[in-house]
Amino acid sequence: MRFPGYALELGSLAAWAVLVALSLWHNLALLDSQAREVATARARMLFSVVETTRLWNARHGGLYAPVTEDSPPNEWLVDPLRDVDIAGRLFTKINPAYMTRQVSELMDRRGGLSFRLTSLKPIRPGNAPDPWEAKALSTFEQGKSEVLERVRTDQADQYRYMGRLLVEEACLHCHANQNYKLGEVRGGISVTFDAAQVLAEINPQKQQTFVLHGVGYVLLAGATLAFLTWLRAGWRQLAQAKAEQEAMVAERTRELCHAVDDLARSNTELENFAYAVSHDLQEPLRMIGSYAQLIDRRYGGQLDDDGREFLGFMTGGAQRMKQMIDDLLAYSRAGRTEINPQPVALERVLEAALANLTAALQESQAQVLRDGTLPVVAGEASMLARVLQNLVGNALKYRHPDRPAQVSVSARPHAQGWEIRVGDNGIGVPAAARERIFQVFQRLNVNSAISGTGVGLAIAKKIVERHGGHIWVEDNQPHGTVFCFTLPAVIPVDVPGSQQQAAAN
Ligand code: HEC
Repeated sequence: MRFPGYALELGSLAAWAVLVALSLWHNLALLDSQAREVATARARMLFSVVETTRLWNARHGGLYAPVTEDSPPNEWLVDPLRDVDIAGRLFTKINPAYMTRQVSELMDRRGGLSFRLTSLKPIRPGNAPDPWEAKALSTFEQGKSEVLERVRTDQADQYRYMGRLLVEEACLHCHANQNYKLGEVRGGISVTFDAAQVLAEINPQKQQTFVLHGVGYVLLAGATLAFLTWLRAGWRQLAQAKAEQEAMVAERTRELCHAVDDLARSNTELENFAYAVSHDLQEPLRMIGSYAQLIDRRYGGQLDDDGREFLGFMTGGAQRMKQMIDDLLAYSRAGRTEINPQPVALERVLEAALANLTAALQESQAQVLRDGTLPVVAGEASMLARVLQNLVGNALKYRHPDRPAQVSVSARPHAQGWEIRVGDNGIGVPAAARERIFQVFQRLNVNSAISGTGVGLAIAKKIVERHGGHIWVEDNQPHGTVFCFTLPAVIPVDVPGSQQQAAAN
C-alpha cells in the first residue's frame, strides 16, 4: 500500500488551473459584454441626437444658410429655390444630409468620435458606404435596427455602430422621386469611436480580475499542497507504524519457529529415548518372566501358598509390563515407519482389521454394520488396518453391559478428503475426557476390569495424523460414541456445502 506519487499534487494544481482559467475567461467575457453595452449606449446617444436634428431639418424642408467658402450650394440638391438672394446676400438651402456632413466634419476635427451618413443607393457618390457600412446596411434589409461591432485592424481598434434611418413623411418631400415608400430603410448613420475610450473604464477592472484570479489560484494551490503534504505525512507515519508492526510480527514468528523447532527436536529425542529404553527393557523383562516360570516349575512344590501367590503376581506383572512395552514400541513404530501413500480400498482394510479381531468379535457377539461402501483413500494399508482395528476393538472393549454391542462403519466426503466414522452403542466418553483419551497410557477408566494399556487410541491418532488427517470423538445417538477421522482422497471428492465451510473458516 503506497501513497500515490506526486501525480496527485500535479493533478490538483492542473485542476485548479483549469477552474481558475474558466472563471477568468467567464469574468473577462462578462467585462467584454459590459464594454459592448457601454459602447452601444454611447453610440445610440450620438445617433439619436443626429437623427433628431436631421428630422428637425427635414420637417422644415431644409434650412437656409448664407453661402460661404465652407458652405457652398449643394450641387446634388435639385430644387428651384435652392439659392435665394435676400437683401443682396446669397443664401442656399441646407438639406438634412448636407447638414449632417457639415456637423460631422466639425466633430471630426475634435477627434476620437465621428459619424457619417450613408446609403446603399446614394444620390451623392461620396455617401457610398465603406465595406463595413455596406454589410451593416444590408442587415437592415433583413429587419435589424442597429449593429455594433468592435473592429480591430493594424491601424486602429474601434467600435463601429450603425443605426438605420427610415423614410418619413418629411423625407418624401425630396426623396419621393427615388421611389421610396414610408417606413422603408433609406440608409443609416454610422458612428465610430476608439475602443480605448470604453476600454479605459473596463481595463482597470480587467486587471483587477487578473490579479484576483492569480491570487486566488496561488491561495487554492497553496492550501491544496499544504493539505496533501499533511496527508502524505500522516500516511508515511501510518506506513512506518505498519512496517514496524510487521517487523515485530516477523520477529515473533521467527522466535516461535525456533521454539517449535526446539520442541520438535526434543520431542524426537524423547521418542528415540523411549524407543531405545523400551527396546532394551525387553530382554531383562523376558529374563524375569522366564526365570519366574522356571522357579515355579522347579521349586513351586517347595513353596507355601503365599510364596506361590507372590510368584503369580510377579509373572502377571512381568506379562503386563511386556504388553506395555510392546504397545509402546508399536506406538513408536507408528511414528517412525515411513508412509508411502498408495490407493487403498478401505473395504479391504476393514476386512483385515475384523479378521484380526475375530476372537473379540465372537466373545462379544457384536454386530459390525457397514453403512454404504467405504471409499478408496491414499495411505498405507497395514497402518490404516491398525487404526480400524484399534477403533473397532475399543468399541467392543467399552461396550455397554446391558446392550448387545453394535458397531457401524461409514464414510462421507470431507473438505480434506474423506471422513471415516466408527460408531458404537457403548458406554460413551465424557466430554472432559475427549482430548485425554488420545494420549499414551490414558485410559478412560483405570479401575475397570477392562484389559488394555491405553495406547490403542494414541496409535490411531499418530497414524491418522501421519496421513495428514485428524481424529476426534463425537456423541452417538442415542448411546455411545463415534470416532471420526479424516484421510486424503485419491481423487478429489465433491464435498457438499464445502464452499460455505471454507467461507466460514
Ligand atoms: C430638402 C430636401 C431633402 C429632405 C427633406 C431630405 N433629404 Fe435626404 N438628401 C437630400 C439630397 C439632395 C441628398 C443627396 C446629397 C447630399 O446632400 O449628400 C440627400 C441624401 C440623403 C441620404 C444620403 C445618401 C444619398 O442618397 O446620397 C440619406 C440617407 C437621406 N438623404 C435620408 C433622408 C431622410 C431619412 C430624410 C427624412 C428624414 C431626408 N433625407 C430628407 C435631400 C433631402
